[in-house]
Amino acid sequence: MTFAALWSALEPIGRHPRTGGYRRYAWTAEDATLREWFAGEATVRGLELVEDRAGNQWAWDGDPDETPGVVMGSHLDSVPDGGAFDGPLGVVAAFDALDRMRGLGLRRPRRPIGIVNFADEEGARFGVACAGSRLLTGTLDPDRARALRDADGTTLAEAMLAAGRNARHLGPDVDALRRIHHYLELHVEQGRGLADLGRPVAVGSGIRPHGRWRVDLPGEANHAGTTRLEDRLDAMISASGFVLAARASAQRHEAVATCGKLRVEPNGVNAIPSHVTVWLDARATEEAAVRAVVAELTEVATNLGGTLTEESWSDATSFPRTAEFAALLDDAPILDTGAGHDAGILANAGIPATMLFVRNPTGVSHSPAEYADLGDCMYGTDCLGTLLIELTS
Ligand code: GLV
Ligand code: MN
Ligand code: MN
Repeated sequence: MTFAALWSALEPIGRHPRTGGYRRYAWTAEDATLREWFAGEATVRGLELVEDRAGNQWAWDGDPDETPGVVMGSHLDSVPDGGAFDGPLGVVAAFDALDRMRGLGLRRPRRPIGIVNFADEEGARFGVACAGSRLLTGTLDPDRARALRDADGTTLAEAMLAAGRNARHLGPDVDALRRIHHYLELHVEQGRGLADLGRPVAVGSGIRPHGRWRVDLPGEANHAGTTRLEDRLDAMISASGFVLAARASAQRHEAVATCGKLRVEPNGVNAIPSHVTVWLDARATEEAAVRAVVAELTEVATNLGGTLTEESWSDATSFPRTAEFAALLDDAPILDTGAGHDAGILANAGIPATMLFVRNPTGVSHSPAEYADLGDCMYGTDCLGTLLIELTS
């Protein structure tokens, strides 16, 4: 099956008819359809399908318990109204690279080949990014994971049960980790680096440190028409102050800070907000800059009578052998990124990982405007195949 045929089977799943963006959240009906697609593609290729203790899907060609294998893949979930490429490109390219390698009729590779679909990479539903790879590597506590709640109050454990899984088994999976010799993740670029360079593919040098925090700001509910301005304790005014403070602090420290999600209580047009929860995402080249922003914003939240709590943290990641792989790929450019990836979680847990980025002419991501053209995706798949052959022979 060609890249285009694989791609078109995924296209309609979870696409919102009005926005054109994807809503593919962990352990929902859309997620189940995506998982079925993955399982189907594994089965038609005669691959052995395994789901690890963290809910990630693996498809193996060869026995990785005998010899650790080279794994390609990414994730199939999305942010709210996300683009088509962030995640699925890496999984589709993985199946296509395997098909092409088999088509070349090379002698049996020295190592097994695996394809992975990591669970809940975006954390759009339960809040923790890269939940599947964090659970796998033991950097997300299983008790905490089971108790994570979505916006409707459903816990991760309940959502998994509804999807036919038992969250009792969640946790680090040393057997699954032992099977990985090297992980390769192809991903759409989430900026304009390659478009500006006029090149189709880059090798990832690393991921900048980043994290997510939950900020709870209190107020007092009261009538919007009868409460004098001076008598109000309005949590939305506090939230507005916090958002502006985040922007100013990021600017002072050469960081980026985003407040992209709010929850308002009681959420009525004519009621003064009694509580606003704001989620903060902060990233920078240096961890010290992120920490400085968070320290300033902790003080802001405290002065507003609120609290700021860390929900997830990702250390800076440096991928190995980047110069060597770039040389193999026609002297591909080497770029770092401010976006988080399962490859970073694995690399920080000591598993060799490599990322390839495919040109995105719009430079936009986490939006329906995210794009990569078919020729670049296929060239990216060629590059993935080159590294696959290098690492398995
Ligand atoms: C994932 O795409 C992230 O960087 O948040
Ligand atoms: Mn993403
Ligand atoms: Mn991604």
